Amino acid sequence: MGRGARSLESAATEESWWRSATFYQVYVPSFADSDGDGVGDLEGVRSRLGYLELLGVDALWLTPFYPSPMVDNGYDVANPRGVDPRFGDLDAFDALVTEAHAHGIKITIDLVPNHVSYRHPWFTEALGAAAGSQERDRFLFRDGKGEHGEEPPNNWVSAFGGQAWTQVDEPDGQWYLHLFAPEQPDLNWENTDVRQDFERTMRFWLDRGVDGFRIDVAHGMAKPAELPDMDLRAATSIGGDEYFDPRFNNDGVHRIHEFFRSVLDAYPGTMATGELWTFDDERFGRYLGPDQLHLGFNFRLVLTHFDADALHTAIDQSLAAPLRAGVPATWALGNHDIWRQVSRYGDGEVGVRRARSMALVELALPGVAYLYNGEELGLPNVDLPPEAVTDPSMPDSRGQSRDAARVPIPWQDNTPPFGFSTTADTWLPMPAEWAALTVESQLEDPSSTLSLYRAALELRREHSAFSGSEIDWYGSPAGCFAFRRAPSEDDEGAGGLVCVLNTSASPVDLPPGELLLSSADLVDGQLPPDAAAWLA
Ligand code: NOJ
Repeated sequence: MGRGARSLESAATEESWWRSATFYQVYVPSFADSDGDGVGDLEGVRSRLGYLELLGVDALWLTPFYPSPMVDNGYDVANPRGVDPRFGDLDAFDALVTEAHAHGIKITIDLVPNHVSYRHPWFTEALGAAAGSQERDRFLFRDGKGEHGEEPPNNWVSAFGGQAWTQVDEPDGQWYLHLFAPEQPDLNWENTDVRQDFERTMRFWLDRGVDGFRIDVAHGMAKPAELPDMDLRAATSIGGDEYFDPRFNNDGVHRIHEFFRSVLDAYPGTMATGELWTFDDERFGRYLGPDQLHLGFNFRLVLTHFDADALHTAIDQSLAAPLRAGVPATWALGNHDIWRQVSRYGDGEVGVRRARSMALVELALPGVAYLYNGEELGLPNVDLPPEAVTDPSMPDSRGQSRDAARVPIPWQDNTPPFGFSTTADTWLPMPAEWAALTVESQLEDPSSTLSLYRAALELRREHSAFSGSEIDWYGSPAGCFAFRRAPSEDDEGAGGLVCVLNTSASPVDLPPGELLLSSADLVDGQLPPDAAAWLA
């Protein structure tokens, strides 16, 4: 790695607690249900704070719990300053924040600025108002093309499949833009009401003590005024960087991030992480920095198969842009939109072994790590019966919906709902085989995936070898890599953690050093295939 990048570690203070934090994504509907309706809720999260402290995470990211018709599981927000009754109420939220802070855990929440629900009062007003009205201007309403306006205004497609425009009924038959479901109309960020309302929303939650936001579709929001046609090849290319895609990454988006940042800067110690689907380093870097986002998810590890060379390249590319911008890289192996890593890496025993090894890779890297609830238990995707699926997006090329990675967390007992709820009628069915994966069954088992995560998180927090904002690579046998945490010029501490990954089919020797942790038992002192080890 290039030297001379701004120091990341030495700049970490009470106010920049997030610089090397481990975040834990709580998918609220699936974490813990306190009231027996089969859907997780805020009180459920509060009741499991002891577990999260034991696991050793620094902060939570709570997915949307705002009033919503739940067309997109809460990412269709009808009121951004409230709590949907199925998730609790504002008192439950306040109690969760207070108690999480008492456990030393920060709370971050989702901010969804690209769109609202069609049940948001603004959209109802817009439907009842005339073309060209102030009410319609909060969204992207346009006349259609064709003799009678019967064709959509341009060729944009929705991220969920199908066209990104829906025509409203008479009298005027205008069309409105939705980059996601038709029930998620896009907001017009040129409209000052939109900006003012988001400031109100951010302050509303910051005043209640939240420590930051995860910003949904942070590369969306700004649309070019002329709404030019897109290159339709971008629709099927993740990140879309190689084709013209005016739906995302428009220059105007940086003014919106500047605005979010100015609100956050008035609340010292708060931060934002953007969901950024772009793989162009230059473009990605523009989202980060002192007047932009504090952190930006990079999804390169998620898209890279289990191969040491490919992963080595993905890691180098992921580090480059954040280091240049002087912010830490932000790693994730999964979330509620992506196949669980156990299934991505091949399912079954091999999938679990590889997912465990990749957890050690992720947690060894400099910067911020986001864990997705259930990955610490080694949960796989669940093949759900089609009638159980609620996800509005089109099934992926393998026929699975995102719900496959959203099945509730198994806590205890031998049969569903495994302590997640008191009803077996959970919002997504839980597989009987998960009896072997419950928190209860893994907690005291030193060889469990949960024990591996706990040990890894403890070392990451406490061992001095984890300092150093850069990495140096060692030469390694084919199918393996090894890197060492290295300090940049002005980092404090010497770093020195070595992480070795073996994606080959044969055991390999480890470099000299004290073995801190391995994802699988060594065999005659060697690291077996599909495994990783930490040395100091
Ligand atoms: C990204 C969220 O993670 C996903 O679940 C949602 O469907 C889209 N943004 C739209 O809000």
